[in-house]
Amino acid sequence: MEDELQRLRGEALVRLDGIDQSGDLEEFRVEYLGRKGLFSGLMKQLGQADPAERPRLGQLANSVKAEVEEAFAARQQALADSAGRESDKGLDISLPGRTVPLGRLHPVTQIMDEVCGIFEGLGFAVAEGPDIETDFYNFEALNIPPHHPARDMHDTFYFSESVLLRTHTSPMQIRAMENKKPPLRMIAPGKVYRCDSDITHTPMFHQVEGFLVDEKVSFADLKGILSIFIARMFDEKTPIRFRPSFFPFTEPSAEVDIGCVICGGSGCRVCKHTGWLEILGSGMIDPEVFKKIGYDPELYTGFAFGLGIERIAMLKYGINDIRLYYENDLRFLRQF
Ligand code: PHE
Repeated sequence: MEDELQRLRGEALVRLDGIDQSGDLEEFRVEYLGRKGLFSGLMKQLGQADPAERPRLGQLANSVKAEVEEAFAARQQALADSAGRESDKGLDISLPGRTVPLGRLHPVTQIMDEVCGIFEGLGFAVAEGPDIETDFYNFEALNIPPHHPARDMHDTFYFSESVLLRTHTSPMQIRAMENKKPPLRMIAPGKVYRCDSDITHTPMFHQVEGFLVDEKVSFADLKGILSIFIARMFDEKTPIRFRPSFFPFTEPSAEVDIGCVICGGSGCRVCKHTGWLEILGSGMIDPEVFKKIGYDPELYTGFAFGLGIERIAMLKYGINDIRLYYENDLRFLRQF
């Protein structure tokens, strides 16, 4: 019996040592340590042993079984540990992390923010108005009566005879003046719409309207504010030119040109060989407009201007096709 125990111990320990899969380990447990296993079988034979020897043999059997159980647990632990390392093999901690791509602001939004920021710095308040306007705010109140030739320039999208998509941000002059008494110093950024599409026109684009109304506002104030704006937006040394123009809601009116940022003034395709680029329309608010909203034109004067954001962004970034802004091509948009 004693020999048999020692033999079984040796055999069990050798078998355990060779086991490298958890399935085999379970087979071993059933065969050796299970209720009907080899060790249990030996224990049962104890009854037939010499009674004088029984306590010693019983003790020996218990300690052998405990030893094998201990070895079994150690093997089980070793297998579990190496399984853990096995799954670690797919992880290379020296690889660079995966970055989550960040969104960014559209170039038009960036320029819009920059323009508004400059005017806010000069004390202008920001207001927004509706894209869907009435004929009154978009034309009539701005001194553009029905059949006025200026309406032809606007290529308006109409919903009905009197409801339309605003063709410029100038209706915000009227909405602001209706609600407030001077002094007024505001900008109104937003989308405008014209039925037009080619490399310099999209049916929707962005403008920022600006206006200042108070007593004794002069054309010099207009020139001063716009000169500061251009110096900050482009460069201190950017040449500026005020060119006489016409808008029904300003008198006198001027379009503002800057020296061509592409060729530096020597003449190129972008400036059509003039050396100048038009960037905004402006003028002193026409007394007829003040009369329409009930301001006293003898007491108040003011100036207004309107600039196109896409155009400024094109000049600043050297973009030659306005449609690029609205194609949503990430290769284009990621550059800003
Ligand atoms: N609203 C004019 C346009 O869209 C621009 C402008 C605004 C001109 C204010 C003068 C004064 O062309």
